[in-house]
Amino acid sequence: MKRIIAFLDERLPLRELEIQLKKPLPKHTNWLFSLGSMALFLLLLQAVTGAFLAFYYSPSPDHAYDAVNYITQEVPFGAFVRGLHHWGASAMVVIVFLHLLRVVIYGSYKAPRELTWIVGVVLLLVVLGFGFTGYLLPWDGKAYWATVVGTKVAGMVPLIGETITKILRGGEEIGAVTLTRFYAIHTIWLPFLVFALVGLHLFFVRFYGSSGLPKNTPEEMQAGVPFYPHQVFEDAVAIFILFIVLAGLALFVPVPLEEIANPTDASYDPRPEWYFLFLFQLLTYFEGPLEVMGAFVIPTLVILLLVFLPFLDRRERLSLRKRPVALTITSLSVVLIVILTILGGRSPKLETEPSQATVDQAQESQETQETAPADTGVFDFNIEDGQ
Ligand code: HEM
Repeated sequence: MKRIIAFLDERLPLRELEIQLKKPLPKHTNWLFSLGSMALFLLLLQAVTGAFLAFYYSPSPDHAYDAVNYITQEVPFGAFVRGLHHWGASAMVVIVFLHLLRVVIYGSYKAPRELTWIVGVVLLLVVLGFGFTGYLLPWDGKAYWATVVGTKVAGMVPLIGETITKILRGGEEIGAVTLTRFYAIHTIWLPFLVFALVGLHLFFVRFYGSSGLPKNTPEEMQAGVPFYPHQVFEDAVAIFILFIVLAGLALFVPVPLEEIANPTDASYDPRPEWYFLFLFQLLTYFEGPLEVMGAFVIPTLVILLLVFLPFLDRRERLSLRKRPVALTITSLSVVLIVILTILGGRSPKLETEPSQATVDQAQESQETQETAPADTGVFDFNIEDGQ
């Protein structure tokens, strides 16, 4: 072992790595500083479980639903892996949001960490992008209709809205191209983006060092315990607890899979995933020409406000209790998001109408399937009887 270490030591900057790992933390930190590492763990968990799901999944309207059903019912540990991926996605949104709140509460977005914060805001959007594109993949009723609504909302963006909807859908309607496109975005484009951004985010985190609690004096900023092993141990404990919770959910709470998508069923009551319900609810307050407010103006203003927060709030770092304006805005925002989310889950059905093209397309596809030769076995997702 010693010889291996000596060999590696001669060839790699191990000493530099050790110096980095043992850098002291600020004197005052707490377990909320593990939320970033928990988000990182979830990202890796999503990558690994997603890679296993991709072994069986097939992004075509004829096979996607059967593939997901097959994973859940036939593949060894398939339901567990799908459960981890499903609950992991929700956990990711919760943990990233809490991480953001922690950063706001302790004013950690302030100079010199503005870039860390801005990359973080983009990461939040990418995480939501994963949720939006992943929701369509099982190709069941809720997946299909939520995407009809979601892509329609994207179409309300002034000037370029129609183009965005067409690019997302891969045409006028939601169909085979949409599913392939969402799958490509979900498994190739966003992962590239997220890992590049996380790399940058972590580089900035290391470069500026942990911000610690606002009460640290300049002398106390480097007077705490070393990052390794202390913080690493605390992060590992937090990650372990998180994993136990997720494994419990994956084992005991089945992931929903409704009937296969029926594009002609206009009676379907579309609902997005829970973390988009607040936006969905916001839309219901604006009608006609004002729709653009809920679909574009307000969300864009909120994103811009988040991006520029470090430049708008330039005062020195104090604990949130001593920043009454920030405390009020943060608390009101959280309460508003929670209320809108609850209301969004209960709001009355949105009007959905299949276009004539969709009805024709569905009929055509049904006729082709009826006259098509028996399954060639290339995509054989048959579920054994009696299991
Ligand atoms: C995929 C999502 C994300 C991952 C994996 C991630 C990861 C991390 C990690 C590991 C840390 C260091 C530990 C900690 O302070 O908790 C950190 C710090 C930080 N993150 Fe994130 N983060 C993510 C999203 C965000 C978001 C959405 C924001 C805010 C908009 C953000 C802003 C920051 C800031 C400002 C710091 C420095 C905090 C300090 O020095 O005290 N991050 N992040």
